[in-house]
Amino acid sequence: MKIALLGAAGGIGQALAFLLKMQLPAHSILSLYDVSPVTPGVAVDLRHIPTAVSVIGYSGPDPTEALQDADIVLVAAGVPRKPGMERNDLFKINAMITQSLLQQIAQTAPLACIGIITNPLNSLVPLAAEVLKQAQVYDWRKLFGITTLDLTRATTFIAELKGCDPRTITLPIIGGHSEQTILPLFSQLPHLTFSDSEIAALTQRIQQAGTEVVQAKAGYGSATLAMAYAGAQFALKLIHALQGEPQVEVTAYVDSEAPYSRFFCHPLLLGSEGIAQRQPIGPLSPDEQQALEQLLPTLKTDIQWGQSYGVNNVVDVKRFASV
Ligand SMILES: NC(=O)c1ccc[n+]([C@@H]2O[C@H](COP(=O)([O-])OP(=O)(O)OC[C@H]3O[C@@H](n4cnc5c(N)ncnc54)[C@H](O)[C@@H]3O)[C@@H](O)[C@H]2O)c1
Repeated sequence: MKIALLGAAGGIGQALAFLLKMQLPAHSILSLYDVSPVTPGVAVDLRHIPTAVSVIGYSGPDPTEALQDADIVLVAAGVPRKPGMERNDLFKINAMITQSLLQQIAQTAPLACIGIITNPLNSLVPLAAEVLKQAQVYDWRKLFGITTLDLTRATTFIAELKGCDPRTITLPIIGGHSEQTILPLFSQLPHLTFSDSEIAALTQRIQQAGTEVVQAKAGYGSATLAMAYAGAQFALKLIHALQGEPQVEVTAYVDSEAPYSRFFCHPLLLGSEGIAQRQPIGPLSPDEQQALEQLLPTLKTDIQWGQSYGVNNVVDVKRFASV
């Protein structure tokens, strides 16, 4: 199994590369790519850890070698959010980077499963789908927006509040991946009870957890370490499913059949080709139903933004590979 990680020299990239070096199945190949010249050195550093995972690092404007024969491509290339910056402010620059990289993935690793980490996910996953469609290699089962961090944070915050074991908590989260579109479903946690004010406070904290980190880092970056943990959890589950493990469940932001919006954050069942089944989101409480209806216009606008960028912008691959 070969896993290519794009943006591998960044805050998320390096931490994620470390976790993958430690946790990937034996004989996996971890292929690191970043425009930064430090990337081959990150690979050398990781190679000094004695696990049965090979690590190769590439830098420069062309990711072709890094992508060759990849089974999974994780995209964490881009700029992080700064204080005062909304996710949508990130769109312009990260859209260029994502489009360029997706064109190269379409050319070199058209059969790979692709996990997008770069924000704003709500727009960049639909953009990625358009780029893959234009290249005639789009397979909806293989494109994921990695939203695992929302579930990770929710689990932590609930365990802190209720004093329970985080391993007993699985809070479904639907919608999208931004303050306005993350929707936790507390009605589907039957073994725990929450007052209305606890639900309101937890929902707000989960939705604004990215901002909590951006502010705490005082302008020097966004979430990296917890995101790397979440990215590794997602990647490992995907690898297990691709290798034939049955009944692997994840939640991710994907091309959707749901009646709500074209892309939607769903519980999924994975299989050896990527998504095997989109799971139903289950019954919603009246408050959750209302919150879902309120978030949909924002989510649909975000999706439209990404789709129309993907359709209308023809990118010079070599030029934007070095942005
Ligand atoms: N999905 C999530 O839950 C989540 C959580 C936190 C952050 N993020 C997003 O992840 C992205 C990365 O964050 P970070 O903190 O690691 O940022 P960072 O600035 O530390 O790292 C980004 C890396 O991308 C590289 N890069 C830029 N353009 C590139 C290109 N064309 N090809 C290859 N590499 C390129 C940079 O050289 C840099 O090393 C940001 O967009 C951030 O908003 C997502």
